[in-house]
Amino acid sequence: MEKQDEIKKLKKECNEFCKKHPLYEEGTFPVFGEGSLDPDIILIGEAPGYNESITGKPFCGAAGKILDEILNNAGLKREDIFITNIVKLRPPKNRNPTKEEINQFSPFLDNQIKILNPKIIGTLGNFSTAYIMEKFNLKDKIKGISKIHGQVFNVSTLFNVIKIVPLYHPAVATYNANMKDTLKQDFLVLKKLLGE
Ligand code: URA
Repeated sequence: MEKQDEIKKLKKECNEFCKKHPLYEEGTFPVFGEGSLDPDIILIGEAPGYNESITGKPFCGAAGKILDEILNNAGLKREDIFITNIVKLRPPKNRNPTKEEINQFSPFLDNQIKILNPKIIGTLGNFSTAYIMEKFNLKDKIKGISKIHGQVFNVSTLFNVIKIVPLYHPAVATYNANMKDTLKQDFLVLKKLLGE
């Protein structure tokens, strides 16, 4: 099956799963993720916020504005990247996702990674960082995001090498302006990796 068809099928399955999930609310949309289907980079956030849940688009609210600025600064185009979250529905009042929710939604993320086969995975914040590092056998290297942001972890899979780069979640820059500079520095790491 072609990539486009595989992703389409997965999105349909995800939508069906979401409509039956306790986090689903009438009038809102699951946020499957969007972007290039042939991406060098996948960025993984936490879960949709309000704006995302009413549009179905990832990172389209305040955190998304910051993400766009940071991508722009690094010379990265949003349309060349695939952007998604671990949890595809908005937790009430934007609370942290639970372990159970992460477990329930993660098969969709796993399949997205498998189908899209990126060279680089940028994890935005502690939740996606811990999930992805554990998944790629880097459990012993997991530390808080303040300790490992901007570092590059190479992991060999059956077919290729993936570079995992833990990053701060862009929302941190909404309440701590200095963090935007750190995020900008770290996204330059992504840009540099693309050229290698
Ligand atoms: N925060 C996230 O983690 N993901 C989004 O899509 C928006 C805000």
